[in-house]
Amino acid sequence: MLAIIGGTGLDQLGNLKITHRQVIRTPYGEPSGALTFGTINQHEVMFLARHGYGHTIPPHEVNYRANLWALYEQGAKRVIAVASVGGIRADLIPGKIVIPDQIIDYTHGRPFTYFDGHERLVTHIDFTHPYDLALRKQILAAADIAKEECLDGGVYAAMQGPRLETAAEIDRLERDGAHMVGMTGMPEAALARELGLSYAAIAVVVNFAAGRGKSREGIHLDAISKIAEPAMVKVRKILGLVVEADDS
Ligand code: HPA
Repeated sequence: MLAIIGGTGLDQLGNLKITHRQVIRTPYGEPSGALTFGTINQHEVMFLARHGYGHTIPPHEVNYRANLWALYEQGAKRVIAVASVGGIRADLIPGKIVIPDQIIDYTHGRPFTYFDGHERLVTHIDFTHPYDLALRKQILAAADIAKEECLDGGVYAAMQGPRLETAAEIDRLERDGAHMVGMTGMPEAALARELGLSYAAIAVVVNFAAGRGKSREGIHLDAISKIAEPAMVKVRKILGLVVEADDS
């Protein structure tokens, strides 16, 4: 089954016919909320709001291990994560939708692995390509059918938050090769890989990164929701088509 993790601006799926909600306990504690099960055009899907349904959990306090574990344990095979980002690359202006293909992790102090028990063998995962190529392609194909522009590829920088970056930090991220910046992409992607889940992300650019474009003098937080709302309508449309094509 396909699972969707909704981020800022997507704490529910309008086109989801809900069948039930289920509270899941995991060996890693509580997920961000109950899992929502339902169907989109008769196709089963499960949904979890990453920041909780009232958006109360900040990025550094999300229990990523519990979230991914709960989806895995309930039978998810593939996970699409929706995340809002600041645009660094010149073409990543507010409103654009991107399917990133790489990650640089700057987060710290977050429980980031399932393989830290001393009784277990040391386990390494291959993370050369952090996002699942087939799932990325499927999202891009769905966007094509939906006639919604969706950019193929980009480097996602995962920052600790919850504060936004300084202009100099964004300059550094750009020098590092990052194209967009967010706060939730890691350890989520790595944990999905540890569990053997196919994982891809839909990144929605909701602001120019600090010091860029209209954020040269500062980021106007009130403008973010005005950008996010119409973009999330497009994301829902794309997700609906991905779910229809899902056979996992
Ligand atoms: N920086 C980090 N995370 C974000 C941003 C940003 O500018 N916009 C949305 N999430």
